[in-house]
Amino acid sequence: MTSTSPTMSVSMSLPFLLLLLLTPLNLPLTTMMTAVESASDDPAPAAWPHQFHSVLFMNNSKGALQVVDLWYDWPNGRNFNIIQSQLGKLTYDLEWDNGTSYIYTLDSDRECNTMHFPVGILRPDWLDGANYLGQRRVDGFLCNVWEKVDFIWYYEDVLTKRPVHWVFYTGYNAHVMTFEVGAVLEDAKWDAPAHCFGEEKTDSAQSRRSPPLLLESVTSDYSHGRLIRDERSIRNLDSF
Ligand SMILES: *[C@@H]1O[C@H](CO)[C@@H](O)[C@H](O)[C@H]1NC(C)=O
Ligand SMILES: *[C@@H]1O[C@H](CO)[C@@H](O)[C@H](O)[C@H]1NC(C)=O
Repeated sequence: MTSTSPTMSVSMSLPFLLLLLLTPLNLPLTTMMTAVESASDDPAPAAWPHQFHSVLFMNNSKGALQVVDLWYDWPNGRNFNIIQSQLGKLTYDLEWDNGTSYIYTLDSDRECNTMHFPVGILRPDWLDGANYLGQRRVDGFLCNVWEKVDFIWYYEDVLTKRPVHWVFYTGYNAHVMTFEVGAVLEDAKWDAPAHCFGEEKTDSAQSRRSPPLLLESVTSDYSHGRLIRDERSIRNLDSF
């Protein structure tokens, strides 16, 4: 078949080729091939490296943009999102595996919001059990795509197995700009500032503000305790 294809392409007229490419008959064929492939052996998403640094370009459902410095540090039980809103606030979201998170600013407002979660940070294998949806091209990369409990759609580069993109059911989505495996933020940077430990400060801060949108919707569903963990590292902080 391969050896005859040059002859075939010569003998095929351009209109015929176009017909072949554009005809709806191609659709069922493609679907069928995907189905067969997924029935035999679905690719599984790569586990997250135990330590990495990533720069994420985020766009929420309303079009608000953020750049997030994500420092994932599983062996030390900690995760850090440093969130720069476009022409706006720089917010630090420091998460510990014991369930405590500090969300603060270092500007003159000196805000700090302490939160407690029933689960710790995302596990490296948090994507286990996701449903494979096939391949799609996103941001110019050919990706394998998975969906997990109608909550997140995750795009991973077919060749390098690095994450490229993910989308939450709300529309909040991330484009992975850098992915430095093994990069670790120095210990001193993981200290929450003193104003997170003042009396009553955290309580009043918490009652003044509603929790981040996604967080609220997820924590209301305790039957999906695992999901809270899934959401924690990249939750929507635009309401903070
Ligand atoms: C952000 O998302 C909004 C809404 O989906 C979209 O209209 C806009 O083009 C996006 N902006 C960027 C820079 O991707
Ligand atoms: C969790 O760990 C952090 C960092 O060591 C600490 O500040 C916080 O108080 C701990 N929270 C609990 C509930 O033990």
